[in-house]
Amino acid sequence: MSRIAYVNGQYVPHRKASVHIEDRGYQFSDGIYEVCEVLDGRLIDVPGHLDRLERSARELDLGLPLGRAVLEMVMAEVCRRNRIKDGILYLQVTRGVAPRDHPFPKNGTRPALVMTAKSIPRLRESEKAERGVGVITLPDNRWERVDIKTVSLLPNVLAKQKARESGAYEAWFVDDEGFVTEGSSTNAWIVTQEGVIVTRQATRGILRGITRDTAIRAAQDLQYKIEERRFTVEEALQAREAFITAASTLVMPVVTIDGNPIGDAQPGEISRRLRAHYHDYAA
Ligand code: PDD
Repeated sequence: MSRIAYVNGQYVPHRKASVHIEDRGYQFSDGIYEVCEVLDGRLIDVPGHLDRLERSARELDLGLPLGRAVLEMVMAEVCRRNRIKDGILYLQVTRGVAPRDHPFPKNGTRPALVMTAKSIPRLRESEKAERGVGVITLPDNRWERVDIKTVSLLPNVLAKQKARESGAYEAWFVDDEGFVTEGSSTNAWIVTQEGVIVTRQATRGILRGITRDTAIRAAQDLQYKIEERRFTVEEALQAREAFITAASTLVMPVVTIDGNPIGDAQPGEISRRLRAHYHDYAA
């Protein structure tokens, strides 16, 4: 019997089931999911799973494409069409398909809903339970590894959206000790009153931007003093200039932080110069 998946209103053969490459789940991990047990053909703990799904949706400001009653009908139908006796139903909702850009897509972008179901041999599971299983321990680093350029960008998406809702272009993340780490999709920089360019050292706390590396080379060649070190929000507020870097923005002057002017709230001279000369140093 061939497996059937549910994709945005249609029941399709599992091997042909697909979503668009610009689905926000694929691009940004911008989605939520549930897994329900199926026992003797019946879905188990559905109220708990749907409560949690609705909560996850609310927390992410994500609309569910179907009401609860219809959702339950589709879940049951996916199990029925796959003739699942014992197994699991998987359900995923993403913020839908939109051109890749961190902020939420414009209103009217329909959330995407997919479901799959698969059988799990109950006997094998019971035998495993008879033997018991082992575990290992690991540091809980979900997700500290921002130095890796992964598509696990949901926190970045939420930060960027918040920035845009507050009328700002970018959000700077601040660590537990009050030091700026980086922007949601950019590296963060300041220029001190003494004219020293400061950006956080590229250790695990930030993504090592390629634009950042080139900007450092440019700044050195233009005879500016550079310090790769942490800086606090307070220090940034006292800075002469601030800017961000990324392949998408290049060197972009920052003129306010949390609504407070940096310098005279105009793009600074060093930021402008680095921007103007960037391509003399880029590969
Ligand atoms: N973002 N930090 C984060 C979290 C980023 O997502 C990016 C880039 C950077 C700067 O890296 P680079 O200089 O190599 O572009 C730093 C890209 C542009 C994006 O996600 O759209």
